[in-house]
Amino acid sequence: MSRKPRALVTGGAGFIGSHLCERLVSEGYRVFCLDNLITGSPENVAHLLDRDFEFIEQDAIRPINLSEKMDEVYHLASPASPADFSRLPLEILEAGSLGTKNALVLAQAAGARFLLASTSEVYGDPLVHPQPEDYRGNVNQLGVRGVYDEAKRYAEALTMTYHRHHALDTRIARIFNTYGPRMRPDDGRVIPNFIQQALAGKPLSIYGEGTQTRSFQYVDDLTCGLIRLMKSGESHPVNLGNPQELAVREIAGIIIKLSGSKSDIIYEPLPEDDPRRRCPEISRAREVLGWEPRVPVEVGIKHTIEWFARRASLTGTRKDTGGRKKPHEDSRE
Ligand SMILES: NC(=O)c1ccc[n+]([C@@H]2O[C@H](COP(=O)([O-])OP(=O)(O)OC[C@H]3O[C@@H](n4cnc5c(N)ncnc54)[C@H](O)[C@@H]3O)[C@@H](O)[C@H]2O)c1
Repeated sequence: MSRKPRALVTGGAGFIGSHLCERLVSEGYRVFCLDNLITGSPENVAHLLDRDFEFIEQDAIRPINLSEKMDEVYHLASPASPADFSRLPLEILEAGSLGTKNALVLAQAAGARFLLASTSEVYGDPLVHPQPEDYRGNVNQLGVRGVYDEAKRYAEALTMTYHRHHALDTRIARIFNTYGPRMRPDDGRVIPNFIQQALAGKPLSIYGEGTQTRSFQYVDDLTCGLIRLMKSGESHPVNLGNPQELAVREIAGIIIKLSGSKSDIIYEPLPEDDPRRRCPEISRAREVLGWEPRVPVEVGIKHTIEWFARRASLTGTRKDTGGRKKPHEDSRE
């Protein structure tokens, strides 16, 4: 008798992970979500608990033992926001190294396919535009962002090693900026910052002159790309992002317009190592996966504004912790 396919999503209670869990459940998977809630929230997956879905509260840096055999392992567990780079540097390095190792070991033992959620940050402050997958990047490993960039570069190297030396069926998704409902309000990224400022009628703060560009994909486009990549036969990295570049100033304008806000714009100093430009080259994703982003930026931003507005009206004046635990205070240095 055939059984439902089973997928483990590490980091499944986070922003992207929760959308991925939701999509996998709706595609007929039995989904196991492993998360230590360091930056995720149980609220993100609460609506899945009465479906074919199981939540496991665990740190991926500890060995992962599951009684059920997995078919697919999506490894997303890692703090990922710019705000986390200085707040959780050791946790980021350990999630990328030990966490990735544990997820690979589990996939190997189960004979499962493995997908690493890597990042466009492996390209650092790129000297090539747009960035194809064979561009090796321009990373400052000593800078504040270096913990994240290098953790993901190491995770990619480890994944390729398991592929080459253990014949593990692996995938590497290089994810570019993604936005949508369930982003953390204190995420530190431009879209949630602007939306919250606009909804509160506060000025939108632009770092630098706002001419730096970003390319944003809506989370539904990304989860579609991740699932297609998992099902593909592609073991080389694949960029998943939206090649439409927008200046940060333009994004502020779109958000002010769509939220009906009367907010002004103020300019603040640019943070260290802030990439000037980031744009994916997605021909590999087009060719191999038949994938490209479909959700227009105005539509995705509108959904996101609506989610933040709903959330603000639900939480009211309640102090917002986003359901997150405090970072561990037992320094592992
Ligand atoms: N959001 C983006 O634009 C973006 C871009 C590139 C790559 N990514 C990658 O996608 C993944 C998800 O990112 P996100 O934006 O949803 O971030 P997020 O912080 O919302 O989600 C990460 C999840 O991983 C969990 N986690 C972190 N460390 C863990 C550990 N050691 N053990 C178990 N769980 C752990 C967190 O609690 C959280 O639920 C990350 O790997 C990130 O590097 C995201």
